[in-house]
Amino acid sequence: MTSERNAMTDTKQAANAPSNAMWGGRFAAGPDAIMEAINASIGFDKRMARQDIEGSRAHAAMLAAQGIITDTDAEAIREGLLTVLSEIDSGNFAFSTALEDIHMNVEARLKEVIGEPAGRLHTGRSRNDQVATDFKLWVRDQLDAAISGLEALIRALLSQAEAGADWVMPGFTHLQTAQPVTWGHHMMAYVEMFGRDMSRFQDARKRMNESPLGAAALAGTGFPIDRHMTASALGFDRPAANSLDAVSDRDFALEFLGAASICAMHLSRFAEELVVWSSAQFRFVALSDRFSTGSSIMPQKKNPDAAELIRAKVGRIMGANVGLMTVMKGLPLAYSKDMQEDKEQVFDAADSLMLALAAMTGMVSDMQANTESLEAAASSGFSTATDLADWLVRALNMPFRDAHHVTGSLVAMAEAKGCDLPDLSLADMQSVHAAITDEVFGVLGVHNSVASRTSYGGTAPSEVRKQVARWQEALK
Ligand code: ARG
Repeated sequence: MTSERNAMTDTKQAANAPSNAMWGGRFAAGPDAIMEAINASIGFDKRMARQDIEGSRAHAAMLAAQGIITDTDAEAIREGLLTVLSEIDSGNFAFSTALEDIHMNVEARLKEVIGEPAGRLHTGRSRNDQVATDFKLWVRDQLDAAISGLEALIRALLSQAEAGADWVMPGFTHLQTAQPVTWGHHMMAYVEMFGRDMSRFQDARKRMNESPLGAAALAGTGFPIDRHMTASALGFDRPAANSLDAVSDRDFALEFLGAASICAMHLSRFAEELVVWSSAQFRFVALSDRFSTGSSIMPQKKNPDAAELIRAKVGRIMGANVGLMTVMKGLPLAYSKDMQEDKEQVFDAADSLMLALAAMTGMVSDMQANTESLEAAASSGFSTATDLADWLVRALNMPFRDAHHVTGSLVAMAEAKGCDLPDLSLADMQSVHAAITDEVFGVLGVHNSVASRTSYGGTAPSEVRKQVARWQEALK
């Protein structure tokens, strides 16, 4: 920050600065300070230091294996890069804005550490394939982190589902009480969503795992490089097959952001439910103190701040997705400097997603369902009206449309009497339809209702337990 501000204000000094050491041959004067400020990415791309050094070490080893540089030089480069990495890791590295980005910062320091052989590292490579490689490696790590973050969240949900496979709660449509469901069923709905999110990250990982390294500036290189060797050293499945595409592809970052946006949207929906459920009006769950805050003025308050922040994170993650899509739109092949604007938003989105996943996992592990409130709410609002209609169909062979009508009359009657369906007498029922028997009361309780919904994927505790077992098996 400080060095950027200095660069902005101290124009004269920058104008007098010597031309850049990396391409000084073509330039008589150094850049204007404002040019330096807009051009430099070191302020953020230093986050890719480890990936940059990993890529360079693979490249150097390959150059030596192909006889393009000597083994001695390659060894010096590879060792020197480790020294540079340890300086960066320990915070003993002076990042320079004048050196623009992480690639040139590392290479310049390597030169100071090992001298002449450092200048041979960039043979048969360009910053264009270098940055694409570094960024891909960085995004790949985030895909892995998202996958394991989701796995932890799914495990926490499975524990909740297992514990509450037969706790009854209201199921909603339009946020109006619809039919009773089980707590386990509701938790498992999120397991399915987060499971799909996980598979989106896994798919993206497979598709993106091709190495850009060796595409050089855009056209490949005349040096006899071995792109398969560097690809496999870096854990890629193969080298990217077209050098123009390799340096200008940012789909992998967009796929990450797309999958992250959907995942953040799912987190947001769940967070919203937790906010509502933890309110005094619902009292469906108690969130732990670890994930709540108090109010500075209202002593009684316990606020679901973590849930609210998770609910909000989708804004910046989706924003990053739209932002990068907009940066990439209309760019001609191959590399353009516009593409330097790819990183900050991805970094921010990744940080936000990992934090939201971790916070949600913590909240879900800690939260306590209030089974009494859940059951009381499930029993109100004529939630078993559909069970009554279904019973009329089954027991009296009534067409469903007629059964719907009869049930509607019974609901109106209960509403007028200020009671619930199971509280109506048999005589009340028979005044609406004479053939109703007292067998009907067997389907009106919420426990009977959920137990009866045994269709595949239904809310019955027996079905929920099957789905929990299937997921536990899948995660083994
Ligand atoms: N810092 C640059 C970026 O992030 C590295 C690539 C620079 N390439 C170039 N041709 N100027 O995109």
